Amino acid sequence: MKIAVIGAGYVGLVSAACFAELGHEVIAVDNDPRKVDLLNQGQIPIHEEMLPELVARHRGGRLQFSSNITQASRHADAIFICVGTPPAVTGEADLSYVEGVARELAVSLEGNKVIVEKSTVPVGTAEAVRRTMLLHGANSEHFSVASNPEFLREGTAVADFLYPDRILLGVPDQRARETLSAIYQPILDGSYYKRPDALPGKASQPAQLIVTSVKSAELIKHASNAFLALKISFINSVANVCELVGADVREVAVGMGTDSRIGPRFLTPGIGYGGSCFPKDVLAFRSVARGVGYDFALLTEVMSVNEDQKLRFVAKVREALWTLRGKKLAVLGLAFKGGTDDVRDSPALDLVERFIAEGAQVCAYDPAAMSRAQALLSSDALTYADDAYDACKGADALLILTEWPEFAAIDLTRVRGLLKLPIVLDGKNLLDPEAVLKAGMHYFGVGCCPIADTLSGAQPQSVQPRSAQKTMWSAVAEDAGALQTSAV
Ligand code: NAD
Ligand code: UGA
Repeated sequence: MKIAVIGAGYVGLVSAACFAELGHEVIAVDNDPRKVDLLNQGQIPIHEEMLPELVARHRGGRLQFSSNITQASRHADAIFICVGTPPAVTGEADLSYVEGVARELAVSLEGNKVIVEKSTVPVGTAEAVRRTMLLHGANSEHFSVASNPEFLREGTAVADFLYPDRILLGVPDQRARETLSAIYQPILDGSYYKRPDALPGKASQPAQLIVTSVKSAELIKHASNAFLALKISFINSVANVCELVGADVREVAVGMGTDSRIGPRFLTPGIGYGGSCFPKDVLAFRSVARGVGYDFALLTEVMSVNEDQKLRFVAKVREALWTLRGKKLAVLGLAFKGGTDDVRDSPALDLVERFIAEGAQVCAYDPAAMSRAQALLSSDALTYADDAYDACKGADALLILTEWPEFAAIDLTRVRGLLKLPIVLDGKNLLDPEAVLKAGMHYFGVGCCPIADTLSGAQPQSVQPRSAQKTMWSAVAEDAGALQTSAV
């Protein structure tokens, strides 16, 4: 098939490279000329595992980059819209980028096309795209607008795209159904996985095909993200109760997650969810419901727990160090999650700002997100370290704020030698508490190891190893991505 992908960001670039990998001829279009130039020079503007290899494999062959939407759309059977849908000040999704693409497509269409929403949009957007295109002169016989929501996660985007749980097609007619089914055929029939040069991913059944109405597909995407965010806020709330009663949320999560109706994934408590999607999509879904007269109060609570979780972590750091003014904090992690350079709506950046506002000095390190963080955050109280150990030098405490697998493998004895005070505050429950204690440091996670109990004794006390902890750490590693754990 011939495909145009409009918007070469985190989703568009991955989708374009993966469509080329599946055998299609793809033109990826972006209206940011610097991005297109970089891509044409073989440089990848984002940090994403396996993406550089994939782009190198197809660039100049089945994968082209352009800033010319007219040319790209004329070449294509299917046109995927992958532009941003950020939150407007009202909380609704700002659909102006999608509308802009619809207008441009209307005046450049030639022949029959399937226009596909891959951006996350409120229910009813496909109808609005169609209306806009008709208003701008497109012939109604020559195009249909379908929905094909994307479920990839940053950090594991390529593997998620090529090895998905399901392919969701919201189709208005047979032409859209046939075109989209043909595009995903190598994943649906499993033939891609039999190729000797197939990229590695989880061993799985071929993806399940789900065909729905366009509106249902649009709604499935918002409901899925909102439900995952709800799951995280739920386990964060459980973690908070655990701290108050002296239970261990890691054991509780394993106990809950082994019930197949609940499942073990997305039950890792922490400093709240972040990123460019969960916060905006929960907000947008609540706005959709409000707009049609339904008060989705549960989502208000999901957001409020998420905000509160960050404040609770700041309070925990304060409790461990008494006051923050003049304290030096080693911060590991700035990205909103491990495996990515994306700092949009990152809880880690939010926390760093709060620590600085309370008078702390922060020395931060992130394996991939430093330059994006630097562009957003600069302060005399903030320095950026060369590596994780550099960040720890002379610090009053070590704080883990992003679940990078390499932080889980940090040399704790070396860390102990570098820190001024033996205090580790793990906002992602990434480290093994027993190992931290063995290295001679106090450990404070989320939903376990209360500070008051631990710091009442002068020396770090050993904890009993728990088999449940090991299981949880494997789950964390899996959610942090199918990335290799390596020493920092
Ligand atoms: P992004 O900001 O990384 O990428 C959007 C790209 O579109 C930018 O490069 C921008 O320059 C380009 N663009 C904007 N207007 C354009 C136009 N008129 N013509 C050509 N290019 C244009 O955003 P993203 O993270 O890739 O997200 C895109 C959409 O996908 C959003 O709706 C998001 O909710 C959804 N989504 C994102 C993820 C994710 O993990 N990031 C996963 C699933 C779905
Ligand atoms: C999320 C969804 O997982 C994807 O399915 C979806 O396609 C995407 O949003 C989107 O629509 O953009 P992503 O935001 O890349 O993907 O990352 P996640 O792995 O979902 O993590 C989101 C946030 O939740 C991160 O801040 C992460 O640290 C946090 N999280 C995740 C937890 O606090 N606990 C968990 O158990 C899992």
